[in-house]
Amino acid sequence: MDFQLTEEHLMIQKAARDFAVSELLPGVIERDEKQQYPAEQIKKLGELGFLGMMVDPKYGGAGLDTISYVLAMEEISKIDASTSVCMSVNNSLVCWGLETFGSEEQKQQYLVPLATGQITGAFLLSEPEAGSDATSQRTLAEDKGDHYLVNGTKNWITNGNSASVYLVIAQTNPEKNSKGINVLIVEKNTPGITIGAKENKLGIRGSDTHSIMFQDVIVPKKNRIGEDGFGFKFAMKTLGGGRIGIASQALGIASGAYELALKYSKQRKAFGKEISQHQAIQFKLADMATRIEAARLLCFKAALDKDNHNDYTLSSSMAKVFASETAMWVTTEAVQVHGGYGYVKEYHVERLMRDAKITQIYEGTSEVQRIVISRAILS
Ligand code: CAA
Ligand code: FAD
Repeated sequence: MDFQLTEEHLMIQKAARDFAVSELLPGVIERDEKQQYPAEQIKKLGELGFLGMMVDPKYGGAGLDTISYVLAMEEISKIDASTSVCMSVNNSLVCWGLETFGSEEQKQQYLVPLATGQITGAFLLSEPEAGSDATSQRTLAEDKGDHYLVNGTKNWITNGNSASVYLVIAQTNPEKNSKGINVLIVEKNTPGITIGAKENKLGIRGSDTHSIMFQDVIVPKKNRIGEDGFGFKFAMKTLGGGRIGIASQALGIASGAYELALKYSKQRKAFGKEISQHQAIQFKLADMATRIEAARLLCFKAALDKDNHNDYTLSSSMAKVFASETAMWVTTEAVQVHGGYGYVKEYHVERLMRDAKITQIYEGTSEVQRIVISRAILS
């Protein structure tokens, strides 16, 4: 076992860090306040290859391993989790799903522009009444011979307005439950699609979250990914990798808050010395550093399982539940270390605390991760 990062890993980590500091940090508070989608920054991320990091270069991707992806997600998320959620969805839900299960024609038409960052994609699974209980979805994709007719509503869709391509997971044969579900590639400008208002959120306020309504939307059969009825397995398999992305996002939010708290603790004085000289603060910092390191190792473990073609369902759920709970705890403590200054926007930690919460909810809540973990260890 080797805990050393390679030269290439270090280069990617540095490139992501430099990008985050030079391109994302300026304006991050304003974008959060105004709920402004980071369109320009996402375009630049795409140009640098960060939107198709693991895609084969023959489809325009960077051809990197999942460890590189974890490192880049951590660095981007330290500064701006509204940007990193877009990056995570495009890389691990949309590009990975298309590359792994799509036809050659689908890859040429959709994966190439997605991996090169010319366009972004979205993953449409959740519905107003079907989130954790994802098989109970109601959106219908009726089989009409050479096409599907899609009707229904998808909720909470990241990149909902900015994406050009949607991967829509919808029910074709409700009597077959999870085996009746299909996944369809749907272009956003298809007639019959309506995009709801942007959600006004607690955190990741710059990210582009919308509900999407489908009314008699015609989707050609050639846009179905995989065999008839493959849609739910597609979603579950894709979310396995997605959870590594969100675990890394949570890791980045935690380490960003920790770095700020560490720095502040050496500057702020109380009772005649730096607050870092008070043992209560030292112990907080020690616990933050320890939990973050454990979260990072779990992210690396899941990434290695994926790269080594081992089953990573268990390790990605463990990484996600642990990293997201670490992010919530560390960011709350980082606000505490900052005292009153932590409670105002200029010091960044209150935003990181608000951003941390979503990592316990999306791509499977903490309770869902525990369902996945307990099923695996009890089977
Ligand atoms: N790989 C392959 N197949 C899988 C699988 C996996 N990881 N997990 C389940 N399946 C298969 C099962 O084997 C089963 O197939 P068979 O009937 O052939 O055996 C079928 O799928 C149904 O599985 P379950 O019976 O386990 O389904 P369930 O109803 O008990 O639900 C669940 C399981 C884990 C709770 C699942 O519904 C789930 O993950 N829910 C959470 C949904 C979620 O994560 N949504 C995220 C939306 S995207 C998002 O959030 C993006 C973002 O924010 C940025
Ligand atoms: P529910 O499933 O109703 O859960 C409510 C509570 O009950 C939770 O605490 C849950 O853990 C608990 N619970 C439910 N079932 C069980 C059980 N069996 N045992 C124990 N506890 C249980 N979805 C997409 O498809 N694509 C996206 O791009 C996307 N982006 C999102 C972005 C944001 C900002 C948000 C807020 C959500 C996003 N989602 C997206 C949806 C997200 O995945 C769901 O919100 C999440 O899966 C939870 O579903 P729900 O909100 O319906 O909660």
